[in-house]
Amino acid sequence: MARKSLNIGLVGCGFMGRTHSNAFRQADTFFELQQKPVLKAVCSRSPGKAEKFAGQWGYDSSETSWQAMVERDDIDLIDIASPNDTHHDIAIAAARAGKMVMCEKPLGRNADESRAMVAAVEAAGVANMVWYNYRRVPAVTLARQLIEEGKLGKIFHYRANFLQDWTISSDLPQGGEALWRLDKAVAGSGVTGDLLAHCIDTAMWLNGGIDEVVGMTETFIRQREHQLTGKVEPVTIDDASLFLAKFANGSLGNFEATRYARGHKALYTLEINGEHASIRWDLHDLHRLQYFDHADEGRCRGWRSVHVTDGEHPYMDRWWVPGLQIGYEHTFVHQFADFIEGLANGTLASPTFSEALATDLVTDAVLSSAETRQWKSITY
Ligand SMILES: NC(=O)c1ccc[n+]([C@@H]2O[C@H](COP(=O)([O-])OP(=O)(O)OC[C@H]3O[C@@H](n4cnc5c(N)ncnc54)[C@H](O)[C@@H]3O)[C@@H](O)[C@H]2O)c1
Repeated sequence: MARKSLNIGLVGCGFMGRTHSNAFRQADTFFELQQKPVLKAVCSRSPGKAEKFAGQWGYDSSETSWQAMVERDDIDLIDIASPNDTHHDIAIAAARAGKMVMCEKPLGRNADESRAMVAAVEAAGVANMVWYNYRRVPAVTLARQLIEEGKLGKIFHYRANFLQDWTISSDLPQGGEALWRLDKAVAGSGVTGDLLAHCIDTAMWLNGGIDEVVGMTETFIRQREHQLTGKVEPVTIDDASLFLAKFANGSLGNFEATRYARGHKALYTLEINGEHASIRWDLHDLHRLQYFDHADEGRCRGWRSVHVTDGEHPYMDRWWVPGLQIGYEHTFVHQFADFIEGLANGTLASPTFSEALATDLVTDAVLSSAETRQWKSITY
């Protein structure tokens, strides 16, 4: 029987535009999708860029205005892979036009924007999802399975780091193409909404909600030339952000993100210590899950390094043979395949807009705590 088509309109031809386009193509060959993804249109403000991208990735057409794309009758789903300041307007317009919406993280530049986006998709009754892709690293999904099965027992500690070093030079400008992350008006915040948002989403998925936080942020370089104005302007993003958290289950959390950790490019690590067992994971070695089980016989007890490549591991039966690993790009393939499966079985793939709003409430609380030097409670 012929499958129903799902016509996709992608906004943004950058880093995430590529990971998503790759996911749409790969998911249809490696998973038995109930609907056929059709790469219908791609939008970028520059006509040359959009056309080139469409040719390279196999989109049927290109647009230079997301508004025009949202209005097209031949598009079912709008996928937002453009900078954070565009998410709110595009998502709301897409929902109002009756389109399904997938949006990159963070959902909004702050929780107020995100709340309005949640309200729009819920009022329109359209399927929605936010691309917190690290949930779909097979080793991280395995960690969730082990926690749900009670293998760790009561959880005491959760710690996560996301470390980079690409903004250390004071010669680096801020704003504009490729450097919009340094411009608070576009990004909403610095590493808190960019890197810590990933850590917080994974943490709450694995260990439940966060009740309160106390944070500290720093802006190490306070003035940079702005790429768009050519003027030296104040830098108002957080370059580094650290916070302590109390989870609803009573465990304690310790989080750190910075773009000033010389030598680290994308070191996302997490560790969870439970009563019976501990888990550790590292993005630079993403196909492995470190696991310590106190129930092991004493003489051989120790940290095991589980190579998460067997058919019984999450998602791995779709790929190669046991022992052969997959990588970063596959997390997006998994997330898109889950989205399509959710459409078929009536359960939206997580995180939905409403679930992702929780992360923005935590990042807002961290920033507010850092500013006021006080603990902040979070009400969901
Ligand atoms: N899930 C992840 O791991 C992950 C990783 C990186 C980025 N992100 C998120 O993805 C989004 C995009 O980040 P990126 O790294 O791909 O950025 P990028 O700078 O590489 O690409 C952004 C693209 O959007 C285009 N664009 C900007 N404004 C536009 C507009 N008004 N209309 C159409 N196109 C427009 C730019 O020309 C560029 O092609 C951000 O929200 C970011 O936080 C998520």
